[in-house]
Amino acid sequence: MAETLTISTGDKATQYRELLPQLQALVGPESDLIANMANVTAALKTQFGFFWIGFYLVKDEELVLGPFQGPVACTRIARGKGVCGTAWAQRKTLIVPDVEVFPGHIACSSLSKSEVVVPVFRDGEVIAVLDIDSEKFENFDDIDAGYLQQIVSLL
Ligand code: SME
Repeated sequence: MAETLTISTGDKATQYRELLPQLQALVGPESDLIANMANVTAALKTQFGFFWIGFYLVKDEELVLGPFQGPVACTRIARGKGVCGTAWAQRKTLIVPDVEVFPGHIACSSLSKSEVVVPVFRDGEVIAVLDIDSEKFENFDDIDAGYLQQIVSLL
């Protein structure tokens, strides 16, 4: 497919719904994980304008910063630390409406107010997490979580 994105102007679910097949076409034919992660972050940033969006990859029992869009971020996160390390340890998606009340939240930017973190599984193991930060409180809900899980399953 041509490497362009058709921007959706519908409500949030519609935007995800229209983005999904485009991501499938972009990521499906490519086997390189980093290349696909890079395009997923770019597509989500382009469609939604999120403040920060990126992947952390599991490497030697740590999360290490991978492809992202947005301001510079912390490079390493220990298992069980912050929202990302907790989502990894608990193997589940975490929606954080107010990062200030999440115990141990790692503030890469003081502008970040809410966050969603989605684990990426391969052969039953968490190999990475997708982290999205917003400058607004309560920006993420089950609609985001559900579609983001579908998006990371394309990787
Ligand atoms: N807030 C995350 C750290 C990563 S940055 O937000 C980019 C956390 O608590 O795990």
